[in-house]
Order: sequence, then structure tokens, then C-alpha cells
Amino acid sequence: MRTVYVNGDYLPENEARISIFDRGFLMADGVYEVTSVLDGKLIDFDGHAVRLQRSLDELEMASPVSKDELLAIHRELIARNGIDQGMVYLQITRGAPADRDFAYPDPDETTPTLVLFTQNKPGLADSPVAQKGLSVISIDDIRWGRRDIKTVQLLYPSMGKMLAKKAGADDAWMVQDGYVTEGTSNNAYIVKDGKIITRERSQDILHGITRAAVLRFAQEAQMVVEERNFTIDEAKAADEAFVTSASTFVMPVVEIDGTKLGDGTPGRVASRLREIYLEESRKAAI
Ligand code: PDD
Repeated sequence: MRTVYVNGDYLPENEARISIFDRGFLMADGVYEVTSVLDGKLIDFDGHAVRLQRSLDELEMASPVSKDELLAIHRELIARNGIDQGMVYLQITRGAPADRDFAYPDPDETTPTLVLFTQNKPGLADSPVAQKGLSVISIDDIRWGRRDIKTVQLLYPSMGKMLAKKAGADDAWMVQDGYVTEGTSNNAYIVKDGKIITRERSQDILHGITRAAVLRFAQEAQMVVEERNFTIDEAKAADEAFVTSASTFVMPVVEIDGTKLGDGTPGRVASRLREIYLEESRKAAI
């Protein structure tokens, strides 16, 4: 059984409790981060901590703990649960006021809720899915307008994954005004004539921590990166495609809306970027 963290306590997962008045539960009034673990160490902890603070600031929410304390909790959970490869999930909500109310509670009276738990994923870095690549379908992006804030309101991404599943695909890319925004839980890229193309950062997409690292590694490897919008038609005509996230690193995409890209196997650029990402991230892990 896992040991999880709730508001200062390390507990067996079946003893962890949250109030039914918690605003995370009632209103999705909370933010989260997923940080991957390789060799028992955290990948890009600083990036995730900085984005967490930004999400909190945008929602005028205070962190109940410092960045150093957060790091210590992450490490303690990794140690207690013996995680070699996997993820640490962290969530902060605005806490549990005395009753349901749309207005934010007084922060002096209601303290934020902090929950962390680990997910053990042996073999995460050598996932056989990366050898095969993903198939994706396109769906309308009907999410709210602040996707740069990593909130826990994930109903539409969940619906998107279910639409993909029902269509026999692995995931969905979301499209707004004719252009791809991102995947349900990852950032989206295409490769054409050696150029890596991905939507630029704005309030329309989550500013992926893996995205930032991968674009940096790509530029260091003299690859050309173009941050601009692209359509599903352009994606279908691309040489390759891939997605990035903390839980999948760099994952090739081989099929879009039933159209195979190239020969339908993971592309060279995506495969190379996955190798570089894993190697460099492991070196910098803490
Ligand atoms: N998802 N875009 C969306 C909508 C996401 O939910 C995520 C991450 C990303 C990639 O961000 P990062 O590289 O920082 O993980 C992009 C996480 C992994 C999740 O919800 O499980």
C-alpha cells in the first residue's frame, strides 16, 4: 500500500481524508503538477515548482509550504514508496471552508489543502509504446480560456481520451479556430523537412515543462524550431509528429485521424529527441 501525503501527514493511502467542502472537490478550485521520477530522482523539479507558483499566483492562492519543503516531501514519498521510475502527483486546492460558497474564503480562516502521492511505473523510460508510436484523433477544443494555469478541471481532457478510445485511437489533439492547440495531456508537435513546429505559448495551451526542455535540447542539437500554429491538414502531411509531457517524455505520433505519417513508424527526429531528453534529464535529475 502506498504512503501518501496530506496536509503535513504521511499516511497509508486508505487513511488519507479530505473534507467534502474542499473547493478542489466542489469547484475544481485547485492546481496540480506531475513530476516524473527516473532512477529515484526528480526530473525538472525546479521547472515544475516555478510553474506551480505561477498557477497559484494567477488564482490568488497561497502555497501552504515553501519550495524547499515541497522538494523534501517529494523526496520523502519517493523513498517511502521505493519509486525508481514513476511520477509524483501534487495538488493544492483553496481548502475547505465551513460551507459551499462561490466567493473565495478568507485565506486567514481557510488554509489550502496539499496532497501528494506517487505512481509507480517500472519501465517508464523504456515504454514499448515509444517504439510503436501513438494514433491520435482531432477534436474541438472547448476548454476554458486559461489553459496556461494547470488547474484540476480535467473533465474535457478526460472526455477527449474517451472519444479517442471509442474511435480506436490512443489520444486526441484539440483544435481551436482551425489550429491544433495541444493534446489532452501533452503538447503537440509536427516535423516537416527537419523543422520542428509547435504552437507558441499563450493562454491557449499549458506551458509544458517538458516542452521547454525539449525545445532547448533541440536548439542545442542545431535543430530548427518554429513556434507557430499548424492545422490538422498540415499535420497529416508532415514527415513526423510527437507529443511531450512529464509522464510520456517525448512520444512519437504515427497516425492522425486515420492518416499514417510517413511509413507509419516513429520518426527519426522524435526518436532522437526522446533519447536526448532522457539522457540530459537523467543527468540533471535531483
Ligand atoms: N499533463 N498540456 C496539457 C493539457 C497537459 O495536461 C500537460 C501535462 C502538458 C505537458 O506539460 P508537462 O510537460 O509540464 O508535463 C501539456 C500531465 C502530465 C497530466 O495531467 O498528467
